[in-house]
Amino acid sequence: TKTLTVLGLESSCDDTGAAVIRHADGAAAEILSNVVAGQGDLHAAFGGVVPEIAARAHTEKLDLCVEQALDAAGVTLDTVDVIAVTAGPGLIGGVLAGVMCAKGLSAGTGLPLVGVNHLAGHALTPRLTDGLAFPYLMLLVSGGHCQFLLVRGPEDYSRLGGTIDDAPGEAFDKTAKLLGLPQPGGPSVEAEAKNGDPRRFAFPRPLLDRPGCDMSFSGLKTALLRARDALVGEKGGLTVQDRADLCAGFQAAVADVLAEKTRRALAVYLNEAPAVPMLSVAGGVAANGTIRTALQSVAETAGAGFSAPPLALCTDNAAMIAWAGLELFRAGRVDDMTLSARPRWPL
Ligand code: KG4
Ligand code: ZN
Repeated sequence: TKTLTVLGLESSCDDTGAAVIRHADGAAAEILSNVVAGQGDLHAAFGGVVPEIAARAHTEKLDLCVEQALDAAGVTLDTVDVIAVTAGPGLIGGVLAGVMCAKGLSAGTGLPLVGVNHLAGHALTPRLTDGLAFPYLMLLVSGGHCQFLLVRGPEDYSRLGGTIDDAPGEAFDKTAKLLGLPQPGGPSVEAEAKNGDPRRFAFPRPLLDRPGCDMSFSGLKTALLRARDALVGEKGGLTVQDRADLCAGFQAAVADVLAEKTRRALAVYLNEAPAVPMLSVAGGVAANGTIRTALQSVAETAGAGFSAPPLALCTDNAAMIAWAGLELFRAGRVDDMTLSARPRWPL
């Protein structure tokens, strides 16, 4: 089939992204450019993403990101075949900004428009990076999401379970906040944990006693808060070692819960007798070394391969949206000017 060049846009949270990818059927996809403009500095003072500030920043940065992505790819809109855009789920102001920008580009050029579910973008990333075949098992684990997806096709997903409260990334961020570490919390907690003893604090492993693949992380956060307050009450503050041990204990608990639930999700997936069983991960938390190692060993034990996209493609980016748009377009999906931004959109 025809070689396709796709421009993708992402603006559902606090990263503005534009990317160009090219793909000929049967060949590996090429990421020609992948521009991400983060907004961390804008939200830093507020301890979390402020939706109104995010929406305004997306509106200001989208055009420039598109220009940079086209330039870096060495293409113009004339060589683009499809425009893909995140149409949800996410912060509605940001999603709207992206959808409006994409509609404008589509109306101005006559190019087909494809609205992409942000979660599908994450879920299909291992096909972009490693050419994974359907069906595979995906653990999507980020600041806003935590779920197991059995991925059978670009529009065919089964959710095998997920968090019933916080997402792990959110728990990492809150842990960092409680311990006075910088945001985003994942990388800072992971760095502290390197010098810590994961066994000093016995943090809970919620829901392991219950069957199924659902998870819970809010109790872990409460346990950490209690342990911190007990130490502060005892000696008036935390030592460097206390902080490292708290981080290590917290991280070990998250890794244990994810590993055990992944074991169960793999069992369900392996019932489908996939020719080449594969576990894949995506989302910012997949950057965590301890968690990656734990998941990899669970996959190996179950006789499945393990595929984790490179870091820059695990976190929010537009290349994954361009890729998902390309898969959907090849499957016959095209949207028009009635495409709407959806704050909630389950896969
Ligand atoms: O996928 P992502 O960029 O955005 C969404 O949430 O959709 O993920 C960001 C989340 C943040 O909560 C961040 O703290 C977490 O991923 N994260 C990590 C690590 N790096 C980023 N969590 C644990 N360990 C890390 N190394
Ligand atoms: Zn995401």
